[in-house]
Order: sequence, then structure tokens, then C-alpha cells
Amino acid sequence: MALSSKIIGVGSYVPPKSYTNFDLEEMMDTSHDWIVQRSGIEKRHWVEDECTSDLALQASLKALKAADMSADQLDMIIFATISPDHEFPGTACFLQQKLGISKIPAIDIRQQCTGFIYGLSMADVYIKSGQYKNILLVGAEVHSKGLDKTPNGRAISVLFGDGAGAVVLTATKDSGIFHTELRADGNFAKELWTPAPGSALGKERISKEILDKGLHYAQMNGKLVFVHAVKRMSEILVESLKKSGFSLDDVDLFLFHQANLRINNKVAEVLNIPEEKVFNTIQEFGNTTAATIPLGMDQAIKTGVLKPGMLVAMAAFGGGFTWGASVIRF
Ligand code: COA
Repeated sequence: MALSSKIIGVGSYVPPKSYTNFDLEEMMDTSHDWIVQRSGIEKRHWVEDECTSDLALQASLKALKAADMSADQLDMIIFATISPDHEFPGTACFLQQKLGISKIPAIDIRQQCTGFIYGLSMADVYIKSGQYKNILLVGAEVHSKGLDKTPNGRAISVLFGDGAGAVVLTATKDSGIFHTELRADGNFAKELWTPAPGSALGKERISKEILDKGLHYAQMNGKLVFVHAVKRMSEILVESLKKSGFSLDDVDLFLFHQANLRINNKVAEVLNIPEEKVFNTIQEFGNTTAATIPLGMDQAIKTGVLKPGMLVAMAAFGGGFTWGASVIRF
């Protein structure tokens, strides 16, 4: 029987301090009502001084514990983040060191809000090929240190939170990941992006002028992103279910990226998915980019919503534009 890959451990971590919309009213010219009505977000966690690999370490240790595995049994680390510890090397190397292991490959990927789905696809292919048996896949972000927390940044800064989620995948002969479908369209790369630092900015990757212009802060065409997110996530969910041999009705739980509650409600409406089958966490955590889906998975387990044997469909959309979906037997 052919090899399959299965998630056997899930863990997550958010920094202890949370900020309500009312706290943000004190920093930015915003209001609780505006944020809740437009996005569904009520609060988010922001670090005091931790960095991305610190959050990732906590989530990874929990995922390893849930998998009943020690770090030295891992064959590879895949780390999705757009808020790395440093410019280079990748944060996967820092995480590897903090886990007390060495030698195994440690890969960073970006892929923004679709980072976890892209990472899942990579892990699945490595495992199915027989090259690696046990893979740690982590999504972690410290957005708060890169947000403009003045009224100038309010359109973006109210949406993002810090957090980490991790899963351990292993080779199995049972059913695990059925199919993961990935897409990207670079024609929209500048509709949701952080321009600096970068080699396309002129003579310097970073300069006082670049900082003065605020090019190191994320920029977004919110309405365009919204429309594409609904369309692309709906399309790719249906496609990946079809390629997995299932229908929407077969799915027990949908784990969507959490960029905006209205996006997820709209996807559910378009596809006629009952509300109770969609597990949302944005109210509590905001958008944690690559951490969102594994963080949601862990919350779903902790609250008894996600149980072994369930058919789970995941979908995400983000900067790039990138989008993807995965269908798994949990
Ligand atoms: N608080 C209060 N007012 C705000 C605000 C804030 N935090 N941010 C923007 N506003 C104001 C704007 O200045 C604008 O005012 P005006 O009408 O006087 O010009 C008004 O609110 C409407 O802004 P707009 O940007 O048109 O709102 P919107 O309805 O498009 O909602 C988003 C904004 C960002 C919530 C929405 O577009 C969205 O969720 N898009 C997708 C985001 C996303 O998915 N991002 C992550 C990608 S994975």
C-alpha cells in the first residue's frame, strides 16, 4: 500500500498579553464597533519581547508532546513565516537550535497567509516519496513589532495578531492527507505587500528615506483582497475535494484562514456550508497569517470540535496572491 502522511500531533502558543479593540482605541483613531463590524475581531495577542522562533518553540514542543515524539526523531523542519527573527538565516534554523537538535534540514517558506497550506503540501510530498518520515511544520508570526500603531496604520494594524501553530506529520499506511492544491498569481503581488527592505527599491535595501515613507509597513488593497479571497477559496476548496474524491457534504469540519470573519461567512454562504461546520478563531486572535490554520486546529481539538477520524478541509488565501486548500482525514 502506498505511503500517506498524517498529522499526529498539534500544538499552539500565543503570547500571554492580549489587546482588546478598546485598547486599540487608545492608540489609533479606531473603534471597537468598526473593527467588529468589518472584521469580526474582538482581541488579539501581541508579544512583549518574544521573537517568532520563541513562539514557534512553544507550539512545536506541544505538538511533539501530542505526537509522543522527541525532537531528535524529526527528519525535517518546515517553517512558514513572514515575520522572521532576522533577515537571514531563516527562522527554521533558530528554531532547530532552540529545539536542541542539529543536522536535519530546516527550511523557511513565506507564502504569507497560505504558508501553512504550502508547507503541508511540501511535507506531504517529502513523506510520500519516502525521503523523510517525521516532519515538523510550523507557522508562526510576530506581527506586532512591524505594525504602525498610530492612526496612519489603523486600516492594517487592527487586523493582525501574534501566535504560532505547529503540527508533526509522519508516514502512515492509513489515510491522512488526501490532496493539497496550490495556486499563486503574481499579477497581484503589489495589492498586499510590504515593499521594504528590498532589492527592488533602488540603491539601498533600506534607508532613512524608505523608513520615512513607511515602506516597511504592510500595504493592502482591502476591498480587492476581500473579493479575491472569497472567490479563490471557494473555487479551490471545491477543486481539492473533487481531486480527493469527496463532496462538500462529506466534510466534517472546515478550517479556513482567518483574515476576516466576513470572508469566511461569505465562502460558507457561496458554497452552502452550514455555519457550525466552519471553525473560526479570528474573534480571539485576529489574523496570525501562517500560524492561523494550525492555531485553529489546536483550538478545535481543545474545545472538542475536532476529533480523530473527521474529514477536514482547509483553505487559505493571502499575499502573492497565493491560495490553497487541503483535504485530510484527521
Ligand atoms: N478604524 C476606523 N475606521 C477605519 C479603520 C479603522 N481601523 N480603517 C479604515 N477606516 C476607515 C477608512 O478610512 C474609510 O473611511 P472613509 O470612508 O471616511 O474614507 C472607512 O473606514 C472604510 O474603509 P475601507 O477600507 O473602505 O473599509 P472596508 O469595508 O473595505 O473594510 C477591511 C476594510 C480591511 C476590513 C476589508 O477590506 C478586508 O477585510 N479586506 C480583506 C483583508 C484581508 O483579507 N487581509 C489579509 C489578507 S490574507
